[in-house]
Amino acid sequence: MRVVTVAGLSVLALLTGCAGSGGFDDTPGDDDDSVSDILTYYEDVEPLLDRWCARCHRPDGPGSVDFTDPGLVSLLAEPMLARIDAGEMPPPVADPDCRPYWGHEELTLPLEARDTFATWIEQGKVMGDPEASSATGGAQNMALADADLEVRLPTPYTPTFTDASDPGNEYRCFALDHGRDEDFYITALAPLLDAEKLVHHIVLFRINETSVWDEYDPAVGVDCIDDMADSVLGMIAGWAPGAVPIEFPTGTGIKILANQRIGIQIHYFQNGEAGLADQTGYAFRTATEVDDEVRMVPVGTSNFTIPAGDDSYTRTGSWSMPLGIAPVVHGVFPHMHVLGSKFSMWRESGDGTQECMVDMPSFDFDNQQSYLFEWPLELEPDDRLHFSCTWDNSADNPGQFHDPPQDVRYGERTDEEMCYGFTFIQL
Ligand code: HEC
Repeated sequence: MRVVTVAGLSVLALLTGCAGSGGFDDTPGDDDDSVSDILTYYEDVEPLLDRWCARCHRPDGPGSVDFTDPGLVSLLAEPMLARIDAGEMPPPVADPDCRPYWGHEELTLPLEARDTFATWIEQGKVMGDPEASSATGGAQNMALADADLEVRLPTPYTPTFTDASDPGNEYRCFALDHGRDEDFYITALAPLLDAEKLVHHIVLFRINETSVWDEYDPAVGVDCIDDMADSVLGMIAGWAPGAVPIEFPTGTGIKILANQRIGIQIHYFQNGEAGLADQTGYAFRTATEVDDEVRMVPVGTSNFTIPAGDDSYTRTGSWSMPLGIAPVVHGVFPHMHVLGSKFSMWRESGDGTQECMVDMPSFDFDNQQSYLFEWPLELEPDDRLHFSCTWDNSADNPGQFHDPPQDVRYGERTDEEMCYGFTFIQL
């Protein structure tokens, strides 16, 4: 576990030192007529933590501390605010002002909510009446309605976290059988999380039988920090905590061949007790036929060298439609590796007009997901799609694999880099 210091203060140290001591005042304001001006935990703060923090920070969630515990919140409120103000919590996602996408209301913390939290701290962290609590405990309904296909790891897998060069992290791939005899289309999908504490993010892709890893063992999968088979052409989607289920527009879907398997890469993050087993999977809604196939087009490049030590190296490029085609774009799954720091994509029309598609001013490898647009983007045949990938290859990047930093090129290994906006298009 990484120990996080906020303004010189180790939250972990605070926790171990004082956990459970509480120490908040729960009866202030009693002698005050203007009680309504005083914000309380149960009425004002708990609902916002419940919505924007507790989906990760709950007893079995992927966040390191349980913020459904009022005592802990009171104790850690200042460092919590510091992480919010540093733009680190909730973890950064695509900017919805660029183009709104499904789920952005849950993934980004509005300024008013931040201010409510800050005011509550300033006013002395008044707890108020526990009866006023409306907390849900952060339980998030990720379930996909009408799923008709579920695939899971064949047996529970216990991550070993033995990679000394990357403590606490493990990337595991499995090739799951879908059990269908005919080709089919995925029309909606959502993860079936098991050991939520461990699962940091998931990437789904198709694997052809011939490219299943040589050393693959269904019981333990394969350590795929090194290799994700033919993932670039077979990407299906990415998921990170908080992402909503993906539903493709009615009549569309992603094609899976009968003889393909569903590849799943799970990034496990050691978080709390050792020896936890996981049997995560995915739920799909499927169709035997669709009107239009949704394809994942890798918009990006494999042609770059990120200079050693450069803390902000950018590679841009563009993609134009093959002759006469004007696809509809439904969303983008931005994908870089651990050095990735910024990603954006935009459309340029024939007349030079530019339109933002996805903008991640702070790309976070731990928080990769597919962004499905609230309304589709209809391209014209002479449009171009531009992309921009920025990496931090300095020694100061906590994700840095090399000491000292080295030039980094394209590759599937996590210590190599990628630059793709996997774009969901419908022809
Ligand atoms: C998508 C999941 C997710 C959400 C949502 C989220 N966090 Fe976190 N948070 C994490 C993870 C994972 C860590 C541990 C890794 C780290 O510190 O970056 C963490 C760590 C923290 C820490 C440091 C705790 C420690 O161990 O020192 C604080 C403080 C924090 N989060 C505050 C918040 C607040 C406040 C919110 C809501 C506004 C929030 N987080 C929302 C995932 C999340």
